[in-house]
Amino acid sequence: MEKSVYIYTYGCQMNVHDSEKMIGLLSENGYKEAGTPAEADLIIFNTCAIREKAEQKFYSQLGRIKTLKKKKKDLVIAVAGCVAQEMQKKVFTRAPHVDFIFGPQNIGLLPDLLKRGQKMSVDINPALAGEEFTAERGSRTRAWVSIMYGCNNFCSYCIVPYTRGREVSRPPSSIVAEIRDLKARGYREVTLLGQNVNSYRSDTDFKGLLRLVASVGLDRVRFVTSHPRDLTADLVDAIAELPCLCEHIHLPLQSGSDRILRAMNRGYDYADYRKKIDMLRERVPGIAITSDIIVGFPGESDEDYLETLHALESIQYDGLFAFKYSKRRGTKAYSLEDQVPEIVKTTRLNRLLKLQDEMTLKKNLAYENGIVEILVEGRSETDEGRLCGRTRSNKIVTIQDNGDTEGDLVKVLIMKARMHSLEGIRTDKQAQATRF
Ligand code: 5AD
Ligand code: SF4
Repeated sequence: MEKSVYIYTYGCQMNVHDSEKMIGLLSENGYKEAGTPAEADLIIFNTCAIREKAEQKFYSQLGRIKTLKKKKKDLVIAVAGCVAQEMQKKVFTRAPHVDFIFGPQNIGLLPDLLKRGQKMSVDINPALAGEEFTAERGSRTRAWVSIMYGCNNFCSYCIVPYTRGREVSRPPSSIVAEIRDLKARGYREVTLLGQNVNSYRSDTDFKGLLRLVASVGLDRVRFVTSHPRDLTADLVDAIAELPCLCEHIHLPLQSGSDRILRAMNRGYDYADYRKKIDMLRERVPGIAITSDIIVGFPGESDEDYLETLHALESIQYDGLFAFKYSKRRGTKAYSLEDQVPEIVKTTRLNRLLKLQDEMTLKKNLAYENGIVEILVEGRSETDEGRLCGRTRSNKIVTIQDNGDTEGDLVKVLIMKARMHSLEGIRTDKQAQATRF
């Protein structure tokens, strides 16, 4: 009888895509996807180690599965992803009901591990990093495509270089072949994935890769994540010149203080970063810019924090992910003294988020009465009876259900801006978009 698998996914897009690769691999090996954990024969936790909170969420969900395992003796439980890589054998000590574990570079061994009943596969090996799998994707319209694996940046707070290993770029020919296949199957948008896509280097560099990808002829191409240090004028020109490249960039600043940026080992100062923002806005009119900020890095003073607030006010991001610094064992910053108390981190985070909310709303209000093109994704989860899609600038838009379906590109007149989405009505097909 066919077996079924349920995957819990935590963390970044890379991890979501890794789960899609696991589903693809397992379906070639006779598994189908289970609707709930209780129905599954195999449960995989694809974990994230970036902050303590993500780890805690995983451990509490793993704990709850214990009762399921007691009821169903042949249920197999696996832990994958960054926590598996970081904790290795310690996962079994903490949770004896786990059957096997494997790291982000060992996805290919999953069928083997299942068959042989082996306990662990967590080798970090560049040869394994570039392995390719046919992913079974959640969407029929938008697809993630890995272009590189691992990370060489060693930001002092970050665990990723230790869990995903050194940077390895995937050859352009295989990236382009995957995207051609996606296009043939009706996909309209791809997002190129890597920890630092700007440092892509294979037979060509990142801007060369963008040109190759653009030649496939999809409607929309995105990429994440960019590192400010490696964002060059040439690359910005490529974004401006290639019509399929969407007007959005995620460019994490992390802090507005040069002292903290140095301690974080980011490789740029605020002035460098600010110049790149100006260059992006000048050469790619209408581009939306989003960012990541960490508050409470060890040694962050009130002055450092205020510099971050001033940076946000000056830059005016379209959206922001902000986090309290979380101490990660094995990273450079782990042993730094002068940790910022939790209460101070919380206060700093809340004030910053409030400031950003005002700016996000202001950015969204500028869309009112403008016409945008959206790629319909399906039913809105929050607005019952409405459809939702995204603008090229990555803003969520809801429209009334006129029978448009997933994958349609439609023109929409924006009637109302909210903090987290825009509300619009479908407009004449011939209308020109006035905003991205
Ligand atoms: N603590 C808090 N935030 C972190 N990030 C990475 N490591 C940590 C950490 N130890 C944030 C960074 C990064 C985003 C993906 O997660 O802002 O850009
Ligand atoms: Fe989490 Fe980073 Fe691993 Fe992604 S790469 S799953 S964000 S720890």
